[in-house]
Amino acid sequence: MELFFLCGLILFTLSISASLGFLFFYNKSKFSYPNLPPGKMGLPYIGESLEFLNTGRKGCPEKFIFDRIAKYSSHIFKTSILAEPIVVVCGATANKFLFSNENKLVQAWWPDSVNKIFPSSSQTSSKEEAKKMRKILPNFLKPEALMRYIGMMDSIAQRHFEAGWEGKEEISVFPLAKGYTFWVACKVFISVEDPEHVAKLADPFNALASGIISIPIDLPGTPFNRAIKASNVIRKELRAIIKQRKSDLAENKASPTQDILSHMLLATDENGQHMNELDIADKILGLLIGGHDTASALITFIAKYLAELPHIYNQVLKEQMEIANSKRPGELLNWEDIQKMKYSWNVACEVMRLAPPLQGSFREALNDFMFSGFSIPKGWKLYWSANSTHRNPECFPEPEKFDPTRFEGNGPAPYTFVPFGGGPRMCPGKEYARLEILVFMHNVMKRFNWHKVLPDEKIIVDPMPIPAKGLPIRLIPHKAT
Ligand code: HEM
Repeated sequence: MELFFLCGLILFTLSISASLGFLFFYNKSKFSYPNLPPGKMGLPYIGESLEFLNTGRKGCPEKFIFDRIAKYSSHIFKTSILAEPIVVVCGATANKFLFSNENKLVQAWWPDSVNKIFPSSSQTSSKEEAKKMRKILPNFLKPEALMRYIGMMDSIAQRHFEAGWEGKEEISVFPLAKGYTFWVACKVFISVEDPEHVAKLADPFNALASGIISIPIDLPGTPFNRAIKASNVIRKELRAIIKQRKSDLAENKASPTQDILSHMLLATDENGQHMNELDIADKILGLLIGGHDTASALITFIAKYLAELPHIYNQVLKEQMEIANSKRPGELLNWEDIQKMKYSWNVACEVMRLAPPLQGSFREALNDFMFSGFSIPKGWKLYWSANSTHRNPECFPEPEKFDPTRFEGNGPAPYTFVPFGGGPRMCPGKEYARLEILVFMHNVMKRFNWHKVLPDEKIIVDPMPIPAKGLPIRLIPHKAT
């Protein structure tokens, strides 16, 4: 993806060379706004995108941030990424400021590619669609609703381990983790569990996921072009599923509460209107994207840290085996079991602190405003960064040390631990993610110990952190130990 991204950048830069002069003068005037935060805008159009991408490619995206904090002696700096002037804000105060000024001073912003891949059926912007999504999602993703899905998740996990892990000596964690999270999502969102049907959806999905944040050049072979094609294939497939479900619901062959799709089909807005099919297809697509690579990146890093830290592995094992031993043969996990997985969740949180699946996200200034003594012009983009607090010794003493006890008692100070964001736009899939991660941890711990095949495997952040070779591990089934 990176290679394409870089090629795309170069191609695009060349193709717009005629307009660079204009851009330069246009940007120069924008960047000379008085009292802007310190920082460098880099080359016209390209800005500091290459440095930003390079630090990620080298596995240390936080370096981009911390180098600039040190250079400018400031927790706020300006830069230019993805052809946009951007103010990066760092630290708990900045997180609090952004998260509590949602839709007052700032609003959601996505790169152009996202808007183009989701030309919503109702012809509104992706921002409007996100607002709609935000209204309906809590109904399906709140803990009470999700409790019902724990058994489903456990039964998919068991089938996943039988098919992909058991009887194998060596496996790669990341591709398998993707398979697991996608299978669970297909089951919980749309009741698709047949592995062949799941695979039919998964193939175009991977193309979509790798082109969604890219330079929006719609030419054959670009990641963006492949993502658009893939999104159309998935939409078509989803619409067939939606049509079938509508008729099953009408004939009482499907249950109104069986999954998120049934909920969406029956939900009405304040005017009593149902969502149309294309809207539903887009919402399901958005959920599949939001929840897919994030959770699989987290699972992969949990496996990595547990392989590296046997004392942590042993404590997670103890907790999970106590739960496993309390179950009757064949009995699936339930809400009470999940509540007992406190140490396991603290471990997952510590993994997200050190390797947040999403590094941060963007906002757009709705008006000119001041923050930390600097002006932020209307229309500029802002970026909050999880690493700016997660790896800050003032927020987390000895930040490089893996220590799940940080999450005991009251846990970290407010706005310092933000892997799911915060405020009104905090990730709506947080609870769902917690359940699928804990169900996965339970299933892997009760079956295996493991060693890393590549002790120094490189980490690439593009845009999520992933071990470069997908984390190959050697499995040691418990029965054999
Ligand atoms: C470990 C897993 C996950 C992590 C770390 C994560 C993290 C995040 C973060 C940081 C945001 C952005 C918040 C912001 O812009 O301030 C976000 C948004 C979002 N997430 Fe997650 N997420 C995860 C799993 C999921 C899952 C499983 C789903 C779906 C079931 C999901 C659905 C979404 C959606 C729809 C949004 C957009 C919300 C909006 O724009 O209002 N996420 N997530």
